[in-house]
Amino acid sequence: MAFFFTFVFMKKLPNNLKAKLEARIMNNALRQLPKPNGLVDFASNDYLGFSKSESIFNAVHQYLLANNFTQNGATGSRLISGNHSVYQEAENYIAQFHQSESALIFNSGYDANVGFFSSVLQKGDLILYDELCHASIRDGIQLSNAKSYKFKHNDFEDLERLILRFKKNEITPDEVQQQSITHPDSYRDSQLTTIYIVTESVFSMDGDCPNIEELIAVSEKYNCYLVFDEAHALGVFGINGSGLVQQFALQEKVFARIMTFGKGLGCHGAAVLGSQELKNYLVNFARSFIYTTGLSPHAVATILVAYQQLETEQNNIHLLRENIIHFNQQKNVLGLKQIFVRSKSAIQSAIIPGNEKVKWIAKQIQEKGFDVKPILSPTVPEGQERLRFCLHAFNSKEEITEVLQLLSNFVF
Ligand SMILES: Cc1ncc(COP(=O)(O)O)c(C=O)c1O
Repeated sequence: MAFFFTFVFMKKLPNNLKAKLEARIMNNALRQLPKPNGLVDFASNDYLGFSKSESIFNAVHQYLLANNFTQNGATGSRLISGNHSVYQEAENYIAQFHQSESALIFNSGYDANVGFFSSVLQKGDLILYDELCHASIRDGIQLSNAKSYKFKHNDFEDLERLILRFKKNEITPDEVQQQSITHPDSYRDSQLTTIYIVTESVFSMDGDCPNIEELIAVSEKYNCYLVFDEAHALGVFGINGSGLVQQFALQEKVFARIMTFGKGLGCHGAAVLGSQELKNYLVNFARSFIYTTGLSPHAVATILVAYQQLETEQNNIHLLRENIIHFNQQKNVLGLKQIFVRSKSAIQSAIIPGNEKVKWIAKQIQEKGFDVKPILSPTVPEGQERLRFCLHAFNSKEEITEVLQLLSNFVF
């Protein structure tokens, strides 16, 4: 079939939007979609290499054929016509794998966080979130009517101080207004308020982890509901890559965990783990779950098979962990340790302040064949611009050593 391209002239952008784009260009911060490049991957979230796994691809195909799933789409919301039977099998498997009472699959991690926080948080509730929490968590909070307050990154003394001040009614509505991303119109008796705390097991821009035991102690002391986003911990930490909460066997202490499948699992979607009651609640009230077409049988079968692979093929997890150790050793050998955020995860960030400088260094390294991405402000605060290295099971030790040598040539 031949395609003929004709030029079409669409209505122009309003001036105020044009001005915003121009400001981005002025600040060296314009986001642009990159083209696929054949470079050595130090940029993707495909930590275990599952996205390109032929064995997962073939097993999914076999599974669908064996179960007579010759269907391309879900056909509707899960509450109408889209709840095909792969969903139940996958959710049962995921719940067992994570030692959770239930699992509820969402179409993406973004949808899971937006749906969870916007529906669970009620007027009069308080949510305390780490200042570096992902945009999807903050967007979900913003859609709710709860009061919200951020605590300093991984600082549980600050968290406790905020809880105490709140309980003593020392946080004024004005102060909440100043620091909060939601409105303080729901101020009421702090003794009756449900307090939620949310953080991430591995922070997506820094790669560091909270002290999970300390956080749980604070949460229990004040009877809070604790939520962990484990997006970057799945496939990396814990037995069979089950995440940081399970690494410390603390799954019964948390209210909910969010697992996303576009990273370590190499596919698509996410699940909220928690009680059966929580699942029932989300099915009834989470709008990003209700008002959207479900994932196709193929997408859900890929999630299921990727989970099975976590249990049966531990070599990739082992290789990834070895590469993280090697990266950290090489950082020390090359004297780079002081510019990196401390991290034992697959995300390693070298702080190189200034959009222009970090973009220039990234370009030099890319020209030598390595795909590393500069993370610019406003994605991170000004002065915190960085070069982010994502490590994978399939990176060789030589590649890791070489990319760090290049960094040290350009940075010093
Ligand atoms: C911590 C965290 N949570 C949630 C998400 C969203 O997940 P997804 O890409 O599946 O929408 C991301 C991904 O960028 C993330 O880093």
